[in-house]
Amino acid sequence: MKTLETNLIEKYNVPGPRYTSYPTVPYWENNIKNDRWKKLVRESFKAHNESEGLSLYIHLPYCESLCTYCGCNTRITINHTVELPYISTVLKEWSQYLLLFERIPVIKEIHIGGGTPTFFKPENLEILMRGILEKSILHPKAELSFEAHPNSTSKKHLETLFNLGFRRLSLGIQDFDPKVQEICNRQQSFETVENVTLQARSMGYTSINFDLLYGLPYQTLNTISDTIEKVNLLKPDRIAFYSYAHVPWLKPSQKIFERYLPGSDVKRSLYEKGRELLEQSGYLEIGMDHFALESDSLYHAAQNKTLHRNFMGYTCNHTHMLIGLGASSISDTWTGFMQNIKTVETYMSYINNRILPIHKGHELNTEDLILRKHILNIMCKMETRWDQVEDQTPDLFNCLLRLEEMEKDNLIQIDNFSLKVLPEGKPFLRNICMAFDERMWKNVPQTQIFSNTI
Ligand SMILES: C[S@@+](CC[C@H](N)C(=O)[O-])C[C@H]1O[C@@H](n2cnc3c(N)ncnc32)[C@H](O)[C@@H]1O
Ligand code: SF4
Repeated sequence: MKTLETNLIEKYNVPGPRYTSYPTVPYWENNIKNDRWKKLVRESFKAHNESEGLSLYIHLPYCESLCTYCGCNTRITINHTVELPYISTVLKEWSQYLLLFERIPVIKEIHIGGGTPTFFKPENLEILMRGILEKSILHPKAELSFEAHPNSTSKKHLETLFNLGFRRLSLGIQDFDPKVQEICNRQQSFETVENVTLQARSMGYTSINFDLLYGLPYQTLNTISDTIEKVNLLKPDRIAFYSYAHVPWLKPSQKIFERYLPGSDVKRSLYEKGRELLEQSGYLEIGMDHFALESDSLYHAAQNKTLHRNFMGYTCNHTHMLIGLGASSISDTWTGFMQNIKTVETYMSYINNRILPIHKGHELNTEDLILRKHILNIMCKMETRWDQVEDQTPDLFNCLLRLEEMEKDNLIQIDNFSLKVLPEGKPFLRNICMAFDERMWKNVPQTQIFSNTI
């Protein structure tokens, strides 16, 4: 006989976005061209930089080998001569933004992601960061973080970035089981991870995140328990426990292990097991996929309902302006989004010819802004309200109609002017947000464009 939980999983396991933006990228109208984007950047800088500073994301796409599950925008190579030309292009892109700012920018947050930032030599990362920092002011409470592959992270990497002000790092772990690692083409030992973690701690890094994945081929309740047992020996401050996104139409390498993937109810039980073990070890689930120890700032932001979410994921810094540098990076002026061209060579050639590398953009209308607020509230605070006229849209009634079924299933509680996510609803955050996704409902995709929500 099926359990209530299994029924809910079957019912709500549909393709859906992860809502790092609203509208989501496939629904952007592509209604921003060069001059308009520059105007939005200038206006956003004027309105927000002095009071709150900006967030900066830098995408370094290179990796030495391809992990078969990978859904990120990467470029696989063992040729390290690519490092300096790419860095010099990113610095040129930053200079082009500096021309749009009316004074030296204040930076509140920097995240270097990828790809694998530690693919780059420490001295080249230093050139990159010095180039960025020499033309800006770091906010006294600025948070600097980077993503690191344990296999390519040396003591020199950690020291160089620490001396530049980095205090957070995020290590890609995924799974410690040898059979899972083999099919994922990603062999990394516990000892390597332990070594990087202990070195970073002893140097003074204050927040270490581990990325784990559930739903990978060959994963079982035993392998998940074993992985989390090993994670517990190192006690990272934060854990991103991501649902593996299966998107073989975008990432063909995922096809090779398709037949070994767990089914959706097994996948859900992997998540449940992981969550149970993490909670027993003192981690609080702070939002979709993310856990933090009580000593970490994300934990407090979740408790105080000050958590924010942007293209980089959950953060304690609520800035209204995010500049994304590098191939495929996304920028957000709050009134508009823009994604850079994804192919490394084309991105570099645009920048080197002083052309904005716009791949796609979207200027938000009033309804987008209101719906984004509700979606962000649900993702970050597990509740939202619409008692103020400025939080209502003509389509809000349709959104509430779509939520009736979830209310009956006790996933949410709706009063006259508010919605609260109930504990049983936490695993279905993506589905709850989808009810507010007017753009998707007005143009339901004919083919699958998002991974499944479970
Ligand atoms: C840019 S990588 C992290 C840094 C480094 N490249 C590494 O792998 O160690 C970002 C993270 O995205 C996650 N990720 C990659 N492919 C994914 C997928 N298909 N579904 C969900 N998460 C994925 C992994 O957890 C990975 O650690
Ligand atoms: S998971 Fe990380 S190391 Fe592996 S291919 Fe993706 S970005 Fe590169």
